[in-house]
Amino acid sequence: INIILLGPPGAGKGTQARKLVEERGLVQLSTGDMLRAAKSSGTEMGNRVAEVMARGQLVTDEIVIGLIREKLSEGGNGFIFDGFPRTLAQADALGHLLEETGMTLDAVIEMQVEDEALVRRITGRFTCNNCGEVYHDDSKPTKKEGVCDVCGSTDLKRRADDNEDSLKTRLLEYYKKTSPLIGYYYAKKKLHSVDGLAQVDAVATEISAALNG
Ligand code: AP5
Ligand code: ZN
Repeated sequence: INIILLGPPGAGKGTQARKLVEERGLVQLSTGDMLRAAKSSGTEMGNRVAEVMARGQLVTDEIVIGLIREKLSEGGNGFIFDGFPRTLAQADALGHLLEETGMTLDAVIEMQVEDEALVRRITGRFTCNNCGEVYHDDSKPTKKEGVCDVCGSTDLKRRADDNEDSLKTRLLEYYKKTSPLIGYYYAKKKLHSVDGLAQVDAVATEISAALNG
C-alpha cells in the first residue's frame, strides 16, 4: 500500500512513519530528510535549500518533485509519503507519478494537532543523527542522558528550524499552502483524520484501524 501522512510541523508524521516501517515493511519517503541530506552534501543547491528550510519556508515544488520522482523510479512495494505533498501542485505531480508507475494511492492520514501542542513538541525535539530515532525532552527522553536508546550513538542533534521563529513561518506555510490538500483528498475519498494529540501508540492504533478498515 501507498499512504500519505499529512499534518503540520510536529504533528508526529516522522514518529508514526517509523512505526509503519517497522510494522508493515513500508518505505519511508521523507522529503524533509532528503532535503537535509542534500544540505549536508555541501553542494550549491544544498546550501540554498538549507537557507530556505532554516527560515521555515517551503522549498520549490520543482526540487521536491524531482526528489520523489527519483525515489519512485527505484521501485519498491509500499511507500509512506512523509511531508510530501505539501502543495496542490505537488499533489497533482504525485498523482501523475503514481499513475505512470502503475501504483495507487490507498490512504491519506491527516494528523490533527493544535498549535500550542506543536510548539511544545517542536521546541523539545531532538533526533539521533546515526539512526534517525526521534526523541523529546519531556515526552520521550533517552533512557541514558545523551545516548540513543536504539543504536547507542551519542550524536544527538536539534534541527536548525526547530525554534519558535521558524516554527511560526512553518505553521503559516502549512495553513496557506498545505491544508488545502485536506479538501483535495477528501474529495478523492482518500482522507482519514486521526487525533494526533493522543499518545504515540494510540495514534498508531488509530492509523492501523484506518488502513485496515
Ligand atoms: P519536515 O522535515 O517535513 O518537517 P515538518 O513537516 O515541519 O515536520 P516535522 O519533522 O517537524 O514533524 P513531524 O510531524 O515529523 O513530527 P515528529 O514525529 O518529529 O520539513 C522541514 C522543512 O523541509 C520544511 O519546512 C520545508 O522547508 C522543507 N520541505 C520538506 N518537505 C517539503 C515539501 N514537500 N515541499 C517543500 N518544502 C519541503 O514529532 C515531533 C516531536 O513530538 C518529537 O519530539 C516527538 O518525540 C514528539 N511526538 C510525536 N508524536 C507524539 C505524541 N503522540 N505525543 C507526544 N509527543 C509526540
Ligand atoms: Zn540512534
